[in-house]
Amino acid sequence: MPVLTRKSTVYTPETVDAVLFSPKQIAARVKVLGRQINKDYKGKSLVIVSILKGSFMFLADLVRELKIPVELDFLSLSSYEGDRSSGMVRLHFDIRRDIRGRDVLLLDDIVDTGFSLAYARKHLLAKEPKSLSIGVLLDKAEKRKVLVPVQYMGFNIGDRFVVGYGLDYNDRLRELPYIGVLKSETLRP
Ligand code: IMP
Ligand code: MG
Repeated sequence: MPVLTRKSTVYTPETVDAVLFSPKQIAARVKVLGRQINKDYKGKSLVIVSILKGSFMFLADLVRELKIPVELDFLSLSSYEGDRSSGMVRLHFDIRRDIRGRDVLLLDDIVDTGFSLAYARKHLLAKEPKSLSIGVLLDKAEKRKVLVPVQYMGFNIGDRFVVGYGLDYNDRLRELPYIGVLKSETLRP
């Protein structure tokens, strides 16, 4: 379990309690994930399907670690209301390219109950890719309600609500360069 560090010296909104992972820690972990992906897909090309909006920063940093040809596409899903999963996943928009017969990596910011990734995985598998793997920066493994096979995982964070580095609370705080824990009084009871 990660240890909470002092507030970052960078912009820290009142609603953020502590920095869980600094930009440096995130960059180091993303580098390791990049190396793993480079090794696993050596000699191949990859279609990365990133789930908007939460994974935009993770995607941007991860692709810069890759040494294989990649094509990018995006899916937009929502399931969260405030700080909890509604359990109902909605697809706002779909990918545009044909992934039939392609090696695909599905990326998300965080896996919590698993409903979103399970939905996205099933949705993409119906398009008959050659392979489909899943990568997430953060994992709340203890909160899983549906099993999803995750091949690339950054950090396990237990049951806490985090913001920054793409992750939001009611669509705010995505811009923070670190991952922070939201003050519990900010969350509705
Ligand atoms: P799941 O469907 O419960 O696995 O939830 C996954 C989605 O919920 C992620 O793609 C995030 O958008 C959102 N989410 C889950 N936990 C957090 C969190 O701690 N902070 C911000 N967003 C979260
Ligand atoms: Mg998301």
